[in-house]
Amino acid sequence: MLSYISAKEAASKWDISQRRVAVLCSENRIDGAMMVGNMWIIPATAKKPEDKRAIRYEGAQKVALKPFVKWAGGKSQLVDELEKLLPEDSENGYTKYAEPMVGGGALLFKFLSEGRFEQYYISDINSELVNAYNVIKNDVERLIEKLSEMKALFLSMHENGRKLYYYSVRDKFNTTELNEDTAVDKAAYFIFLNKTCFNGLYRVNKKGLFNVPMGSYKNPSICDADNLRNIHSALKNVTIVCGDYTLCSSFVDKNTLVYIDPPYRPISQTAAFTAYSTDVFNDDEQIRLARFVDKLNACGAKIVLSNSDPKNIDASDNFFDDLYSKYSIHRVSAVRMINSNSEKRGAIKELIICN
Ligand SMILES: C[S@@+](CC[C@H](N)C(=O)[O-])C[C@H]1O[C@@H](n2cnc3c(N)ncnc32)[C@H](O)[C@@H]1O
Repeated sequence: MLSYISAKEAASKWDISQRRVAVLCSENRIDGAMMVGNMWIIPATAKKPEDKRAIRYEGAQKVALKPFVKWAGGKSQLVDELEKLLPEDSENGYTKYAEPMVGGGALLFKFLSEGRFEQYYISDINSELVNAYNVIKNDVERLIEKLSEMKALFLSMHENGRKLYYYSVRDKFNTTELNEDTAVDKAAYFIFLNKTCFNGLYRVNKKGLFNVPMGSYKNPSICDADNLRNIHSALKNVTIVCGDYTLCSSFVDKNTLVYIDPPYRPISQTAAFTAYSTDVFNDDEQIRLARFVDKLNACGAKIVLSNSDPKNIDASDNFFDDLYSKYSIHRVSAVRMINSNSEKRGAIKELIICN
C-alpha cells in the first residue's frame, strides 16, 4: 500500500519551505500528491521536483560573483533562508529585481551569478559605496590598476609602514571630494579601507568622516581582479542609483521582486551599528519604511524584508510584529558577525517579512 507524508514532512525531507511544497503540489509537479481536507499529502516515495529557479539560465555562462566589500548586516549567511521564501520568478512572472538598500549586495550577487532576472535596480544612501558600484560598472580596469598598486605597496610593508599607509589613505579618502575626476581614486580608497580596516566596518563621525581604525589582517585580499571584472560584466543591466530607497518606486511593478534590508534596529543600546552614513535609521525611519512597503505591496510587487529581531533581548518587544502585522513574519537563526565586542557575536534570530 502506498504510504503518504504531510507537506510539513516533505518540506523537512527536501529542505524547502512548507509553502513551497504546497505550491509544487498545486502545480501538479509532485506525482500522486493529493489534497485531503485542506492539506496536501504526498507519496512517501515522491522525489523532490527539480528547482526551475536554478535551471532557468542553464546554458548561459554562470560565474559565481562575490560581494566586493564586507558590509555590516551583510546577508551572505541568510541567503539560503531567504531563498526558501522567494517565489519562482519564471512561474510567477517576476522578471525584475530591486534591492533599494543594497549594501554589499549578497543576494544581488547571487541572483546576478544565476542570471535569475532580466532587469535589476539597486540603490543605497551611501554615496561612496554607490560610487564604487558605478566605477566597477564603468571603469573597472582603471580601478584594478589603482587597487593593484595600493595592494603591492601595502603588502610589501611591515606593521608600522602599513599603519602609516592605512591612515594616509584614510586621510585622502576623507579630504578628497567625490566628483567625476576623483571617482576611480575614491572607489579604490573605499575598497582598500574596507579590506584593511577593523572588521570591514563603514562608520562615519558626525562630520561624515570615515573613522574606523586599521584592522589586523596579515594578508588582506585588497584586489580580487577576477571578481571585479566578473562583477563589471554582470552590472551591465543593472540600474545603480544613489539616494533614498523610495526612489525605487519608478522601477517597481507587479513583476518585481523587492528585497529590502534596512539598517538593523539595534539589538542593544550599545550595538548601534547603524552609522553607514550620517543619517540615523531610528524607529521613525523603520515606520516610514513600513509605510513604503505598504505602497509597494499595493502595486502588486513581491516584497521580502529582513531585520534584527528585538525579541532577542526583550521577548515582549512587538515593534516589528505590530508594524508588519498584515504580512508573514518568519524568524530564522543567524550569527551576528559585526560586533565590536566578540563576546556578543553569537546565534540570534533575524526576521524575514514577506507579503
Ligand atoms: C543592512 S545594510 C544592507 C546589507 C546588504 N543586504 C548586504 O548583504 O550587504 C543597510 C543599507 O541601507 C543603506 N541605507 C540606509 N538608509 C537608507 C535610505 N534611506 N535609503 C537607501 N539606503 C539606505 C545603508 O547605507 C546600508 O548600506
